[in-house]
Amino acid sequence: MEEKKEKKIGVLTSGGDAPGMNAAIRAVTRAAIYNGIKVIGINKGYSGLLKGDISELSRYDVADIIGRGGTFLRTSRCPEMHTEEGVDKAALVCQVLGLDALVIIGGDGSFKGGRDLAKKGVNVIGIPATIDLDVNCTEYTIGFDTAVNTGTEAISRLKDTSASHERCSVVEVMGRQKGSIALWCAMGCGAEEVIIPEENDVIDKNKIIEQILENRHKGKLHNVIIVAEGVRGSTQLAEDIELITGIETRVSVLGHLQRGGIPTAMDRMRASMMGYKAVEAFMEGKKNVVIAYNKGEYQVIDLFEALEMEYKYDDTLYKVVKMIK
Ligand code: F6P
Repeated sequence: MEEKKEKKIGVLTSGGDAPGMNAAIRAVTRAAIYNGIKVIGINKGYSGLLKGDISELSRYDVADIIGRGGTFLRTSRCPEMHTEEGVDKAALVCQVLGLDALVIIGGDGSFKGGRDLAKKGVNVIGIPATIDLDVNCTEYTIGFDTAVNTGTEAISRLKDTSASHERCSVVEVMGRQKGSIALWCAMGCGAEEVIIPEENDVIDKNKIIEQILENRHKGKLHNVIIVAEGVRGSTQLAEDIELITGIETRVSVLGHLQRGGIPTAMDRMRASMMGYKAVEAFMEGKKNVVIAYNKGEYQVIDLFEALEMEYKYDDTLYKVVKMIK
């Protein structure tokens, strides 16, 4: 009688780390082991895969990580995966390891690497994780909620000092080419101006200065202007505001501090559910898929279709931020 082969999946985190990645790794590991599937943890994303930097994960290896920021598997951006040789080698490693599926926790860039691996016969299951909320097939990505909460808290602190000194604060937040973090922070902080790539190719400094002066005229004693990193030019804007208006202006670039920190309950919960759904999809025999969250439901979407989907920008939030500022 032929011996039944034990199923085996690999899991890695790739690209920029995002709070909640650990919860996803934990859920993938425990849901898989619960169902008799072996789990291979791959360190440092695709770079670790290419080097065979791996170890089998037990349910105890993922104990006490759900509340930790970052990713305990560590991560990397891997230029080799942009080459044919790199992809071939990664596919070969998956084959040698006997992986029945590779769970990739990361953003669009990481999924593109996954798509190339899928074309070479690797069964890829993507879990969207990036603070930027820029994976087009899903309304939620792991880490966004924590990043927005961190940004909102940081900007609220800046507001205290800027109000005390009657200054203007220009705050740059992350988000790559997308403005979601900026918009949500602007709404949460009551910022008077938010500049995002979806609405502005360049910063219209005259319009912003006009707005600041008008608000000062109405009695406002301080100003908070949020700039998404994708627009660029926050430092120059701060200099121009001070030079032209005479109002003391400071710039703060929140940068990588938005990527770290304790994940929110929302990120822990959704990341855990996505991890579980990835294992469920695998057990149902689904191949090359991404776990998405849309309109209140977890979905399993074809990886190739997911990468073809277009970015849906809804300007409602932007309009409301402007209306109630
Ligand atoms: O994609 C997450 C992100 O933090 C972006 O917001 C930012 O543009 C980028 O990564 C920074 O990348 P790195 O950590 O490689 O400097």
